[in-house]
Amino acid sequence: MKQSIHINRIAVLLLAAVLLVLLLLGWGLGMFADIEEEPYVSEDADRIVVGVSQLGSESMWRTANTESVQNTFTQQNGYFLIFNNARQKQENQIKAIRSFISQRVDYIVFSPVVETGWETVLQEAKEAGIPVILMDRNVDVEDKSLYVTCVGSDFVTEGEKAGHWLEDDLRRSGRADEDVNIVVLKGTEGSSSQIGRTRGFFSVAQDHDNWHILAQEYADFTSAKGREVMEGMLKRYSQIDVVVSQNDDMTFGALEAIGESGRSVGVNGDITVISVDGTHEALAMVADGVINVDIECNPDQGEYVSDVIRMLENGEQVEKQYYVDEDVFTIDNVTQDVLSKRSY
Ligand code: AHR
Repeated sequence: MKQSIHINRIAVLLLAAVLLVLLLLGWGLGMFADIEEEPYVSEDADRIVVGVSQLGSESMWRTANTESVQNTFTQQNGYFLIFNNARQKQENQIKAIRSFISQRVDYIVFSPVVETGWETVLQEAKEAGIPVILMDRNVDVEDKSLYVTCVGSDFVTEGEKAGHWLEDDLRRSGRADEDVNIVVLKGTEGSSSQIGRTRGFFSVAQDHDNWHILAQEYADFTSAKGREVMEGMLKRYSQIDVVVSQNDDMTFGALEAIGESGRSVGVNGDITVISVDGTHEALAMVADGVINVDIECNPDQGEYVSDVIRMLENGEQVEKQYYVDEDVFTIDNVTQDVLSKRSY
């Protein structure tokens, strides 16, 4: 009896030893390695792995920008795309970038929802040796080596274009010296597009003592908020001559509110409407004389980013900033041809 207990103990010990050896072997072979630490693509080493953190889907422009990215970074074009939508939250973008770092992607591309607060995560990417390309919007960091380049719009110029168009329009209609009451619907607070467009427009406005900025409020680049903010402004101010709306979605909301207030808009109306983006829906309104002018913001940025990546792959030097091509649309140049070619 004593002997069989002894034999059982030896068997249990032997089994435990075998299990321990198997466990150690498995560990050594990487069977239990953290999946996140493994290279994302192992079956096709030739593809360039790009992690893209999109800031959200607040506007038609954003949807078009996402489509441009997804149509560019395809397997046929030699890419493996890992796409994340941060739903307007900076913390989600930071999480996505950290996940791209742990997946050891080849490039990180991201549209920063706001300009500040990126130093730590960009430093982590730099230490991991992963080049970061900013798309659409910029970051406000002292150490510019934290990103390789930025591909996007010249937002200050967009704001200036809005201001200069208004100057010309007032001159053409003989109202250059009259008092003009202006309200401004601003995009997401702290975003490059909001900061740049505001700076650009106000740099022109400050030269005109007769331009009175009655109010400037954030409306998050969304139609719902544009409507809400415009409703409030219409209640507070009986005489609004010009609405400067920093994107088309806010303009759509504002137009609803103005329509309900009984006031008219556009080329033959009481209120001049200045918008930004140049989406198909807004350009159709420009052609109909509802929106007076639309300052284009070009969302087709995927190809531009891809060109930069190809240059980096070839060991070429890249610029710190690339601007996309952009136009200004009024009733005079929104032709059927322009409308039919506008896919977003
Ligand atoms: O940063 C670009 C801006 O963001 C676009 O004008 C707007 O529509 C978007 O949401």
